[in-house]
Amino acid sequence: MKIIFATANEHKLDEVKSICGNCGIEFALPEGDFNPVENGSSFEENSVIKAKEAYRLSKTYCLADDSGLCVNALNGAPGLYSARYAGTQDAKIEKLLHELSDKNDRSAKFVCCMTLLNDCGDVIFQTIGECFGSIVEERKGLNGFGYDPIFLVEGYSKTMAELSPDEKNKVSHRAVALKNVLKFLQSMP
Ligand code: IMP
Repeated sequence: MKIIFATANEHKLDEVKSICGNCGIEFALPEGDFNPVENGSSFEENSVIKAKEAYRLSKTYCLADDSGLCVNALNGAPGLYSARYAGTQDAKIEKLLHELSDKNDRSAKFVCCMTLLNDCGDVIFQTIGECFGSIVEERKGLNGFGYDPIFLVEGYSKTMAELSPDEKNKVSHRAVALKNVLKFLQSMP
């Protein structure tokens, strides 16, 4: 089975392929210019927007991932705006560390909402995966992408960027969501 993975982020595609392993699904990026307007008011809404745009381009099964980092002391920011929080990824991390500099509560979570459309373009499954942790004061580790270097994973004494790709793909918000999607697909007649 082939599923179009509705993203322009190759890191996410690599993680999805690796989490899936030999699950029998071939994931591919949408063809053409994939640039949906993410103007939803929740991860769920943006995930549907991405999935529908991928369907418009491909007319087959599509899976979208909308994800972000939610920090409790910042009322859930950057959240939906994680990708647009500042210009570069370095600037996003600097801004977040600055905003947190006078806060005691550094707890946070990564959230991933996945939406699956069938080959008629209908939403057939939606799920949320979460990964809990806290924000460290200085970046550590070189693996992963995005906010991984400042996210200390609950139950580990390492940031997400210090985990190996295999370790991240066992505990991440994306892994939790994708496993739910794979379970749903296996249950389909
Ligand atoms: P999206 O492409 O609109 O879903 O934006 C997600 C943004 O959230 C990314 O650009 C990253 O900044 C952040 N993000 C999502 N997942 C991860 C992750 O696994 N590690 C680090 N940052 C992530």
